[in-house]
Amino acid sequence: MMYICIRVTDSSKRCVLVTGGAGYIGSHTVLQLLLGGYKAVVIDNLDNSSAVAINRVRELAGDHGPNLTFHKMDLRDKSALEGLFASTKFDAVIHFAGLKAVGESVQKPLMYYDNNLIGTITLLEVMAAHGCKKLVFSSSATVYGWPKVVPCTEEFPLAAANPYGRTKLFIEEICRDIHQSDTDWKIILLRYFNPVGAHSSGHIGEDPRGIPNNLMPFVQQVAVGRRPALTVFGTDYSTKDGTGVRDYIHVVDLADGHIAALNKLSDTCIGCEVYNLGTGKGTSVLEMVAAFEKASRKKIPLVYAGRRPGDAEIVYASTEKAERELKWKAKYGIEEMCRDQWNWASKNPYGYEPQDHTA
Ligand code: UD1
Repeated sequence: MMYICIRVTDSSKRCVLVTGGAGYIGSHTVLQLLLGGYKAVVIDNLDNSSAVAINRVRELAGDHGPNLTFHKMDLRDKSALEGLFASTKFDAVIHFAGLKAVGESVQKPLMYYDNNLIGTITLLEVMAAHGCKKLVFSSSATVYGWPKVVPCTEEFPLAAANPYGRTKLFIEEICRDIHQSDTDWKIILLRYFNPVGAHSSGHIGEDPRGIPNNLMPFVQQVAVGRRPALTVFGTDYSTKDGTGVRDYIHVVDLADGHIAALNKLSDTCIGCEVYNLGTGKGTSVLEMVAAFEKASRKKIPLVYAGRRPGDAEIVYASTEKAERELKWKAKYGIEEMCRDQWNWASKNPYGYEPQDHTA
C-alpha cells in the first residue's frame, strides 16, 4: 500500500498551548506564533521567568496581542491542567517548561526528576485524556554527550552527563514509547544547540536568575558592569584557539524552527521525529567574546581557568535533516546574535524585574 502525506497548514485561529512560555525561548516562540496567526495559551509557574515577558510579547504582537492568554500554573498541578484542557481545545502543545541548570541538577537531582519528568508525564496524561496528541518538545544537544566527531547528526548515539541531561533523554524515550503504543501521537523532538541573542526590538531576551551558567548571559552581565570578568573554562582544547567550540543559534531562528515543526505536525504521516536546531557552524569562546566586544564596543575582561567538568570540546549540528524535512534554516550569524544580545542587555541591564536583582 502507498501512503501519501498531506499537509494542512492554515494557522488561522489554531490554538497552541505553550508550557514555559514566559521563559527565554518560550517567549520568543510565542511571539512568532502570534505573528504567524496562531492563538497561544501560555502556562508557566514563573519559578525561573517573569510575567513581564508575557506583557512585552503581547505589546510586540500588536494587533495579534489579544490572541495571547496567560495562566500561572505548574504542570504538576493535574487538576488545574485538566480544567484548562476541559475549557480550551488545543491543536498542539509546545512543551518548554522545565529546569535547566546543569550544576543545580547535580546538587538536587530529585528536584529535576520531579519537575521535568513528573511535569511532562502529567502533561502527556492530560493531553491523551483530551485527545490532543500533537507535541513539540524542547530537547537539547546535551543528549549527544561528548560527540566523537562533528557535525552531530540525529542518528548519533545518545548519552547524558548529568541529571538535567538525563531528564531530556528520558523524556525523548517516553515520547518514543507513547508513539509506539498509540500511533495517533505526532511528536517532534527538537534538539537545540546554543540559543543566544534576543528579539531585535530589545524588549524580550534572556534573564537568568542568579549567576548565569551559560556563556552569553555571563558575557552580557560583564558588559553592563554586573560582574567583573568572564572566566574562560579551558584553553587547551584541540580547537583553533584552545577554547571550547559550540553552535550558537539566534533565538529568533530557533523560535521559527518551532513554527516549522508545528507545520510538520500537520503532515498525516509523521510519527515521532527528532530534529537538530543549530546553524551547523562552530564558534569558539574567544571568537564569541570578540564578536560581542565588537557589537557592544565594551571590553570584556577575561580570566583563564581550567576546563569546566563535564564540558565537551567541540559540538555543532548537522542541519541537513531540518533543512530537508522542516524546510527551515537559520538565517542569522554571530554578528546579529551579538548585536541583538547587546541591544537587549543595554536596554534591560538588570532584566525584566530590576528590583529583584541585587548583584
Ligand atoms: C551547557 C550545558 C548543557 C546545556 C546547555 C544549554 C554544561 C556542562 N552543559 O552547554 O547541558 O544543554 O548549556 O543550556 O553546563 N564558558 C566559559 N565561561 C562561562 C560559561 C561558559 O568559558 O562562564 C564556555 C564553556 O566552557 C563552553 C562554552 O562557553 O565551551 C559554552 O558554554 P555554555 O553556554 O554553558 O553551553 P554548553 O557548554 O554548550
